[in-house]
Amino acid sequence: MKNKSLVSITDFSKEEMLRIIELAADFEKNPNQPLLRGSVIASLFFEPSTRTRLSFETAINRLGARVIGFSDVNATSTTKGETLKDTIIMVSNYADLIVMRHPLEGAARYASEQSRVPVVNAGDGANQHPSQTLLDMFSIYKTQGRLDNLKIAMVGDLKYGRTVHSLLQAMSHFNPTFYFVAPDELKMPQEYKTFLDEKGIKYEEHHDMQEVLGEADILYMTRVQKERFADLIEYERVKNTYILRNSMLDGTKDNLRILHPLPRVNEIAYDVDQNPKAYYFKQAENGVYTRMAIIASILGVK
Ligand code: CP
Repeated sequence: MKNKSLVSITDFSKEEMLRIIELAADFEKNPNQPLLRGSVIASLFFEPSTRTRLSFETAINRLGARVIGFSDVNATSTTKGETLKDTIIMVSNYADLIVMRHPLEGAARYASEQSRVPVVNAGDGANQHPSQTLLDMFSIYKTQGRLDNLKIAMVGDLKYGRTVHSLLQAMSHFNPTFYFVAPDELKMPQEYKTFLDEKGIKYEEHHDMQEVLGEADILYMTRVQKERFADLIEYERVKNTYILRNSMLDGTKDNLRILHPLPRVNEIAYDVDQNPKAYYFKQAENGVYTRMAIIASILGVK
């Protein structure tokens, strides 16, 4: 994976994903490893972020590299009309690696084609969020002790949710059973169901979250993303369809863990936070170690 961009989770083989998980575990044991002293990494966020940007920048700092970049596109020459192509050509003359989030689907692939240095997609529209997927896999492995043969319920916005799209593809290497729980307006897109059909992977579609809670090993909650809706009336209609409350976890499996890429709005009630099955804040911490592993692998120092 040295010098390879990470644009889609499908860019990494099963073996490469497992290697990242192994390395992430190593970085968790010893998070201060200045292997990249002298390197410069660009962090270009054309769309808001808290966890992804800050955990990437923490990872870069813990690896001893330096960060350049922006978190507010309004402070860049994009506002003067500079194209993404020109921005990427410029930045790839400054940095050894580019981490980029962009609202347009396909922007990361395009950037990787313009760049002289590898590009890591930190989320492109409703398309992909592969570094999130690798930290989700690390979190699943840590909580379940395995990746194979797990029952994974995905709840909420399965249409626009880039994290569920990437995770579905990655976990397809490990014979999962999926339960998709969404309102009709936000169902898992057909292309992903066709992908599973072609791989012979089992999935069920449900409207009622309660129907799957007793079966699941992993409950992957998602936010209904207001920013992806062209019609805000439709957003208002579906935004509160699923709210997980602590009382709903009675009778669930002991090994069940609740994941959420965050931010949450109100799809997980605050009374769930104290439940030992709630794992979403630890999941976000796992992002630092996973992103250290991704950067170190791409830059060839591990
Ligand atoms: N999980 C995630 O992508 O969060 P941010 O939008 O805060 O980066």
